[in-house]
Amino acid sequence: MDGNRSWRHPGYVAVLDLVAARAGLLPPSCPPAAMDGIDRAMARAGLADFDAYLARLVQDAAALDDLLVELTIGETYFFRTPEHFDFVRHEVLGDLARRRGPEHVVRMWSAGCASGEEPYSLAVLLLEEGYGHRMEVRGTDISRAALARSHLASYGEWSLRGPQADRMRPFLNLEGKRYVLMPEVRERVRFGYLNLAEDTWPSALSGIWGLDVIFCRNVLIYFNRPTIEAVARRLHASLAEGGYLIPGPSDPPLYEHAPFESILTDWGVVYRRPVTSDAPHPRSRPALTPPPLPPVTPPRLPRPAPPLPAPPVPPAPAASSEDLDGARQALTRGDWLEAARRAGALQEDPAAAARGVRALANLDAQAAVRACAEATTRHPLAVELRYLEALLLMGLGRLPEAERATRQALYLEPSLAVAQLMMGHLLRRQGDPVGAARAFRTAESLCATLPSDTPVPLADGDRAGRLAEVARAERLRLEAPEETH
Ligand SMILES: C[S@@+](CC[C@H](N)C(=O)[O-])C[C@H]1O[C@@H](n2cnc3c(N)ncnc32)[C@H](O)[C@@H]1O
Repeated sequence: MDGNRSWRHPGYVAVLDLVAARAGLLPPSCPPAAMDGIDRAMARAGLADFDAYLARLVQDAAALDDLLVELTIGETYFFRTPEHFDFVRHEVLGDLARRRGPEHVVRMWSAGCASGEEPYSLAVLLLEEGYGHRMEVRGTDISRAALARSHLASYGEWSLRGPQADRMRPFLNLEGKRYVLMPEVRERVRFGYLNLAEDTWPSALSGIWGLDVIFCRNVLIYFNRPTIEAVARRLHASLAEGGYLIPGPSDPPLYEHAPFESILTDWGVVYRRPVTSDAPHPRSRPALTPPPLPPVTPPRLPRPAPPLPAPPVPPAPAASSEDLDGARQALTRGDWLEAARRAGALQEDPAAAARGVRALANLDAQAAVRACAEATTRHPLAVELRYLEALLLMGLGRLPEAERATRQALYLEPSLAVAQLMMGHLLRRQGDPVGAARAFRTAESLCATLPSDTPVPLADGDRAGRLAEVARAERLRLEAPEETH
């Protein structure tokens, strides 16, 4: 490849153009290092020819992942930037307890978690604060190698170099020269692959919705401007009302891309999704009047998909904002049935009931599960409601119940590809890789029977070609012997 080693060689330029398009990355700040990285990734792919390598990158998501690892840095450590964790401890948890009550399960996401130190630090913070099982912490990254290290949870001294890293020590066992995290913390964090630059989230399937706290630190620095704008809008849409987004100290500003409140602190800015019925945070600058933006706040659950089969009655209108306020008030009183009624989840028409369940899910996932169970009793043959129930239960970590609801959906509609895909995720997470691979294979072949740009039923606009690719990648991960997750 030496003959090609000019930064302006069309091969390198084309590889970086593709990386910009697929992962939203800026041109590299250090071209020689990036060229070395591309050379290494091409060698691992067994290819020396740029055209063949570009074709591989287009076809094979794993090859693109492998390249991205070369072009970004997975640097991190426990309790990095301690002010952020102090802010969560002193301000966020109290605010959540006041607004959501003592039973609220706190939902946190580390977006771009690298080798896991950040989400594990969040889990330890919540354990220290007595949250026990009242937490859901997720870590996602584009690097499968980093995710494998997160799963392994075995760290060197270097991960403990921060000033507050000692907080981790009670939860680490020294094994030789490595510190291995205790199951007590490991079990609290779920990891998964997510490319922030892709429009696949927020999504209930991955649990990325209705979040109380998002740490998205030291990732946006890699992105070009259109990607930053799109990611800012999706981060906003992934937060629950009153949820907080904590960026890294050098990350680009986000307040102009989505209607965040900006909270100014001595050490930097924190963003918040405003609570419509609440006074602003005492230190917040109100959300800017949004500049002309593409639509923000996509629903946190999939939009109603083409009905299966088409309902015989005209669709009922979605819940009005007055109804949603009524639902919110009913939830505050603990009256989930009234909340379900106000949101529309108890409507006669199953498609309208499904829309009501989605609206309620954006207010309170637990209430939405109850409403959905009630709606499925009224409409036992409605596939969409069964699938929605499964999605919600999975989002709440109630996996065996989610599996049961998925089986019911598949009993009613065996060719429902999204349900096969969900079954794959559920079985894998419950320790059945063989069953999971089978479900992913079925999802893949169901999608492959459709023209690739056909929207897949109940898939929130996802097309058959893309879902087939997702199912295939999941299956290959399970079948690859060296993969650990
Ligand atoms: C510097 S690390 C940040 C780790 C941690 N958030 C922290 O601040 O300590 C950046 C991480 O972003 C991940 N990353 C880069 N591009 C990404 C993308 N498009 N989607 C998701 N993660 C990405 C990289 O794989 C890397 O693990």
